[in-house]
Amino acid sequence: MPSIAIVGAQWGDEGKGKVVDLLAEQATVVARFQGGNNAGHTIVRGGETFKFHLIPSGILSPTTTCVIGNGVVVDPAVLTAEIDGLRARGVDIDNLRLSANAHLIMPYHLMLDQVGEAKLGKLEIGTTRRGIGPCYADKAARLGIRVQDLLDEKILKKKIMAALEPKRLMLRPFERDPALDLQTITEQYLTYGHRLEQHIADTAALLHRALDDGELVIFEGAQAALLDIDHGTYPFVTSSNPVAGAACVGTGVGPRDITEVWGVAKAYATRVGAGPFPTELDDELGEEIRRRGGEFGTTTGRPRRTGWIDVIALRYAARINGMTSLAITKLDVLGGVGTLRVCTGYRTGDGAELDAFPYHQTVLHHVEPVYADLPGWEEDISDCREVDELPENALAFLRFVEQRVGVPIALIGVGPSRDQVVWLGERSPLLASAA
Ligand code: GDP
Ligand code: IMO
Ligand code: MG
Repeated sequence: MPSIAIVGAQWGDEGKGKVVDLLAEQATVVARFQGGNNAGHTIVRGGETFKFHLIPSGILSPTTTCVIGNGVVVDPAVLTAEIDGLRARGVDIDNLRLSANAHLIMPYHLMLDQVGEAKLGKLEIGTTRRGIGPCYADKAARLGIRVQDLLDEKILKKKIMAALEPKRLMLRPFERDPALDLQTITEQYLTYGHRLEQHIADTAALLHRALDDGELVIFEGAQAALLDIDHGTYPFVTSSNPVAGAACVGTGVGPRDITEVWGVAKAYATRVGAGPFPTELDDELGEEIRRRGGEFGTTTGRPRRTGWIDVIALRYAARINGMTSLAITKLDVLGGVGTLRVCTGYRTGDGAELDAFPYHQTVLHHVEPVYADLPGWEEDISDCREVDELPENALAFLRFVEQRVGVPIALIGVGPSRDQVVWLGERSPLLASAA
């Protein structure tokens, strides 16, 4: 029953898609368990770039079944477009399975996301405006529409009517929008239902079979620890739980079914959207890292905020995920940047130094990072494939981070392409047995 959960250890966009794609060929199943098309997972293979928002990053491996689990919120317009896009590029998507219990993002969720952010004004969260929050809100309020509802016109229409009713006031700006018409939405969603029907399955049972047969399963996280609705920097978070524990709830397996948890982190840090970011570099160097790292959102194209790697936040992410390995991506971006900083503590307004992530939001908003300065390297490391090809200072940087976070680094990324990785130390025994 080996399985690996791959999760974001910072604020998202760490390169989870690349790591999942890398391991997918050894896996029987790759399953997404939360989030929706707020995610953007990039894979670069042989010069070709793929960006996935809903389809799991294992889809390029023809022998792997890809599951969109019950915990995912699915915009069927986006999913069908993504399927079409992949088909047009010759990618086989017959192995895609969609949970009948997953909730659907409806046109009114997109409108509510927009209205909600506009109402917050300066206090806006900076959401991706993909309707994620309103969809999870309806799920909790038991007003959600699920994938299985697409297959029954009468039920679908009744449920949409019930879901629309309490939203009339908030939706007033869209009153005359034809996209809000009950009949129009019902017909449109029935069409999606016809298109997606062949992919709808009992995905929990499919996962149980794979796990019981001892096959390798990968759970693909979207977003990241510090965007977690319970453990992140609330309210500047997403509306789901991106931590590894949610892989159980979001697919229907038990905690003992997860054997390893890999946290993916950049060698620096980025955040897109509002909220506290203690190590943010609001200067030319931050701009330089943004340029070198191509730090612009995969989903919205927004410039990502950049800053130094933060081991206080990473240690917290490691704990709440039960992380067994780290994957450090984008190490190549730091070459030639000069002296590197690693945040090892937070100083509060009254001069105290914290060595743990503060639970109180106000404290986090006001902390000043305490840094250790480490020598950088000038070399371009993007062609390195073995540990001993890396500059001494790059290795020293990695060892410092590893020791401070307390989780072994399994692999590092030295470029966007699939082959631009360096494995450190022992490869996971799980992977060795699956190979
Ligand atoms: P995800 O949301 O965690 O899957 O990450 P994204 O795909 O949103 O963002 C990561 C970006 O960094 C993508 O453009 C990747 O192609 C790119 N990338 C991933 N790993 C590396 C790496 O090791 N080096 C460099 N330079 N780019 C990387
Ligand atoms: P991947 O999977 C980075 C951020 C948004 C915003 C907050 C809430 O590619 O790492 P939402 O639309 O979810 O209600 O927005 O969360 N956010 C992400 N940031 N990567 C992501 O996904 C994100 N998904 C949501 O920018 O701050
Ligand atoms: Mg992303």
